[in-house]
Amino acid sequence: MDVFQAMVEMRAMRRLKPDPVPADLIREVITYATHAPSGSNSQGWRFVVVTDPAKRAAIGEYYRQAVDNYLATMNTAPLPHQTRDEWERLCAAVRWQGDHVGEAPVLIFPCLKGARRGLEHATASRALAASVYPAVENLLLACRAKGLGATLTTLHFGHEAAIDELLGLPADAATFAMIPVGYPMGNFGPTRRLPVETVIGWDGWGE
Ligand SMILES: Cc1cc2nc3c(=O)[nH]c(=O)nc-3n(C[C@H](O)[C@H](O)[C@H](O)COP(=O)(O)O)c2cc1C
Repeated sequence: MDVFQAMVEMRAMRRLKPDPVPADLIREVITYATHAPSGSNSQGWRFVVVTDPAKRAAIGEYYRQAVDNYLATMNTAPLPHQTRDEWERLCAAVRWQGDHVGEAPVLIFPCLKGARRGLEHATASRALAASVYPAVENLLLACRAKGLGATLTTLHFGHEAAIDELLGLPADAATFAMIPVGYPMGNFGPTRRLPVETVIGWDGWGE
């Protein structure tokens, strides 16, 4: 698949079939993730791949609670650039994923070793994040190119201690996302974004 097509069609695919995904395919998309840049080429990441049904169910329950809490407390109005319909479809998809994420065949947690101390400092935590999210984006693009649905999610941070323990993370490691992966129920299609001129500041921040 053309890289530009993958970029414009890599949308959050929250509704996933429970059908298993071959381990070799997961290995392949993670291989593409590991070709991403990281500070000093440190490659401090580790991708914890959860397929065990009991672990997925336990994580799914934490995630469902996090979604309940998120949807109960979030602003109920669409953002300025969103139509009411887009907003409602987004909320419905988040709700669906909250109720079903434990049934997604694969949950991938991109982690960084030795991240825990740095996360307490604003600047260091930005630098740490910059050494893992490029790999996350590669992973998402590779999933799209291979016909797998995936979403970058972070709501599990609300139950971080319990999930870290469930995943057996060392004390100094941290998860940076949870990416449910599976075959999509719906169709891939182009994402809708703001016109590029509205987000560029030539030679400075601008208007
Ligand atoms: C930092 C970050 C955190 C996110 N966390 C969540 C999340 O916890 N749950 C979720 O359903 N989607 C999450 N998303 C996905 C966004 O909602 C999604 O990328 C955005 O709405 C654009 O969707 P689209 O690509 O389908 O247009 C997150 C995305 C990012 C970049």
